[in-house]
Amino acid sequence: MSYRRSRAVVPVIEVLEEASSTNDVMQRRAGDLPDLSVVLTDNQTGGRGRLGRVWVSPPGKALAISVLLKPVGLPPEAFGWFPLLAGLAMSRALSGFVPREVELKWPNDVLIDGSKVCGILCELLPGMSGVVVGSGVNLTLAADELPTETSTSLLLSGAAEPDQDAVLAAYLTELTVLYREFTAAGGDPGRSALRDSVAAACHTLGRSVRVELPGGDVLLGTAVDIDASGRLVVESDAGRTAVAAGDVTHLRY
Ligand code: BTN
Repeated sequence: MSYRRSRAVVPVIEVLEEASSTNDVMQRRAGDLPDLSVVLTDNQTGGRGRLGRVWVSPPGKALAISVLLKPVGLPPEAFGWFPLLAGLAMSRALSGFVPREVELKWPNDVLIDGSKVCGILCELLPGMSGVVVGSGVNLTLAADELPTETSTSLLLSGAAEPDQDAVLAAYLTELTVLYREFTAAGGDPGRSALRDSVAAACHTLGRSVRVELPGGDVLLGTAVDIDASGRLVVESDAGRTAVAAGDVTHLRY
């Protein structure tokens, strides 16, 4: 596949026949590549997920995309917004392919009818010299190929034969627009309107949630806000807690 449409959006797209983890490949090459370079494969064999999990996808049926961001002169707190920015870009992009509502679950899971169609893993480069934004998008997996009971694919969600280049180009277009607005505003999520846009798209806000924190503690409460650093603010019996990382479940009561 030539990825003709996607190549018109970003300066470099490197397509690998197979990769263990595109995020690992991008981290190794980051020093030599320009801002907004992309490494991708549809055959990722050792994908890594958030919170130390694995990310599994059958060959030829999902895209593993890693985008290199090298913003200049942003304050450290701005970096907390890249996972949300990427999730917003992907949810906007995928909504053009399915006849259903695409949901953004904090910080950056993209869901359709409550099932995950895309996961995103953002990793900081040494010295905050950049961020690798890795996304795994389930394109054409059949029901018996889904990695978990809570996964879905674009095909299963009603997209007619989702085309890799069309999906990638849509994502890169949304991502570059948001990224340029955010960096032009000096990484200020208020001034760039990123905070408002994420809050408007994030289906976690206003919901009863169960948050499994990295240490194993569980927080039950209502998600009420996203703070200036991109953390999810959860109101519980213990008051308000700002969560920087964790596994969120939307509760249905
Ligand atoms: C998650 O939901 O846990 C995040 C999954 C992120 C998977 C993507 S696929 C491309 C990139 N390379 C990796 O090894 N992981 C990310």
